[in-house]
Amino acid sequence: MGPVVLGIESSCDETGAGLVRDGRLLGHAVSSSMDEHARYGGVVPEIAARAHVHALAPVVREALALAGLTMRDIGAVAVTTGPGLSGALQVGVAAAKALAYARGVPLYGVHHLAGHVAADTLEHGPLPDPCVALIVSGGHTSLLLVRDLARDPIVHLGDTLDDAAGECFDKVARVFGLPYPGGPAIDRAARGGDPRAVAFPRPLTGPGDTPWAFSFSGLKTAAARWAERQRTGGAGLPLADGAASLQEAVADVLTRKAVAACRAHAVDTLVLVGGVAANSRVRNLAGERCAAAGITLRVPPPWLCTDNGAMIAAVGDLLIRAGAAPAPLDVSVDPSAPL
Ligand code: KG4
Ligand code: ZN
Repeated sequence: MGPVVLGIESSCDETGAGLVRDGRLLGHAVSSSMDEHARYGGVVPEIAARAHVHALAPVVREALALAGLTMRDIGAVAVTTGPGLSGALQVGVAAAKALAYARGVPLYGVHHLAGHVAADTLEHGPLPDPCVALIVSGGHTSLLLVRDLARDPIVHLGDTLDDAAGECFDKVARVFGLPYPGGPAIDRAARGGDPRAVAFPRPLTGPGDTPWAFSFSGLKTAAARWAERQRTGGAGLPLADGAASLQEAVADVLTRKAVAACRAHAVDTLVLVGGVAANSRVRNLAGERCAAAGITLRVPPPWLCTDNGAMIAAVGDLLIRAGAAPAPLDVSVDPSAPL
């Protein structure tokens, strides 16, 4: 039996701790500073870092209690070293070093995106090699080609050239007068709306466009202009139609490109993770298109889609089982870590 791995995540506004052994989740806890950022309409780095300082020890304690374990049971510590907000990452990495040093156990640095992909293994077991992963959240829109997570570097197929998909939802929600975070608010507002009511653009889907890159800032502007026209036209905002049409445009672009990437690389499994994977239309359309293309779709439950410590522990566990070398105790954070 392998060691119990404690995973720590603090790259953005969630402080997460998770415990994994031999691919199995033992317990996890997460605390979010989202409410503290709500009045600013987005994550404020300084507030996020301070919130991690407050939340980290309680979150580790809660995860241990849920697993029925104590610090003495920890055999390794894994922590997100990047990418993410520098100050926020520093808090998690400093805590992980202190715990690893105090317990005399190895420390493993984990790439945040590898964590997102590995999250699904805690729900559905080992990933097939190869598979394609689409990570869509407030901070990322990344299409990845994944082989063996512990041994092979992840191949970055494409990314957003401007806003992340979740950021687009968050910003448009603000213009629509909906609360932050905007994604769930738009999802709710779209119920009963007509997804064909407004012909929003499908950016970077033309024949000459780069196939795996995304762009959502033009869509955000189009949605803001539409809202403005409705208001000045005096008709009021047919919110359900606008929200459903925006959601349709985002879901269409995301799933079209993800399925095309699977086909182009002869891959038969798509992993969909990140906060936006919780979107009802994104999930449904991904399901329909994957089924039509003979692709197996793997989407973990919502708590594993968003930032958490269990996914970081899952990567640490894979690294240990692959015999990877631990990180030195002076490992630094890498806010703009490449894959
Ligand atoms: O993964 P996550 O919790 O944090 C990071 O950004 O890393 O993702 C949060 C993002 C936010 O932009 C939020 O609006 C979006 O995920 N989101 C959704 C839904 N639930 C969360 N977007 C669309 N529909 C949802 N149901
Ligand atoms: Zn994330």
